[in-house]
Amino acid sequence: MRTKIVAGNWKMNTLREDAFALATEISGMLKSETFPSARVILAPPFVHLAAIAQLMQGTRVEIAAQNCASELSGAFTGEVSAPMLKSVGCSAVIIGHSERRAYFHENAAQLHKKTVLALSHQLTPIFCVGETLPEREAGNHEATVLSQLSDSLFSLPASDFSKLVIAYEPVWAIGTGKTASADQAQQMHQFIRNEIRKKYGEEIAGGISLLYGGSCNETNAAELFALPDVDGGLIGGASLKSRSFVNIIRSF
Ligand code: PGA
Repeated sequence: MRTKIVAGNWKMNTLREDAFALATEISGMLKSETFPSARVILAPPFVHLAAIAQLMQGTRVEIAAQNCASELSGAFTGEVSAPMLKSVGCSAVIIGHSERRAYFHENAAQLHKKTVLALSHQLTPIFCVGETLPEREAGNHEATVLSQLSDSLFSLPASDFSKLVIAYEPVWAIGTGKTASADQAQQMHQFIRNEIRKKYGEEIAGGISLLYGGSCNETNAAELFALPDVDGGLIGGASLKSRSFVNIIRSF
């Protein structure tokens, strides 16, 4: 049985009081109802991480950062390192989100370094891959995703690779309301798992959690999560409303 995961990527949203309220509402609902045994992860903005991690102590909610530095420490103004995240109570970190790749020009080599640093500080990397609309329309979606995997991750030893979570997020589905169809999602998740199988073998391919992201919400989550190779979701917009987010967790 693979670990099921629902992770909420809050992006650059929530002031301090909103962040506290959202996390408190979510953890409260999870406590009071019976939920499937999934990892529930919230990824607030950096400035709230320490406080929200403290607030969530003793609950089943884990805290992730939305990014980390590709260096360990030193003169990198404005950056936040993997060990800093660990020290304030994070257990995971999103790496290579398409917004980081597109707007901040993060490249495969940097994403590899971030992944290695996250792993060496016992943070679960939630590594994002996904094609743009032109790439899909040109029939290059599989090649794009394969090169994202192989350029940043396939040099990892098996013992490290097995600790990753991979999120397939087609760029055209993020924040657009245009979710991938069940067929498109399953086809790509199966492709990713097959490529992992070719590289790392059956045990690792069969054990790794693959999340879908891109306009996943309480209406479509059940269909997506029921797909054989989808193990949960990375949720943007719908993670900012406690009730919607909790309903997504309930969709397994
Ligand atoms: P969305 O974002 O759910 O708002 O489409 C998903 C993501 O970017 O992780």
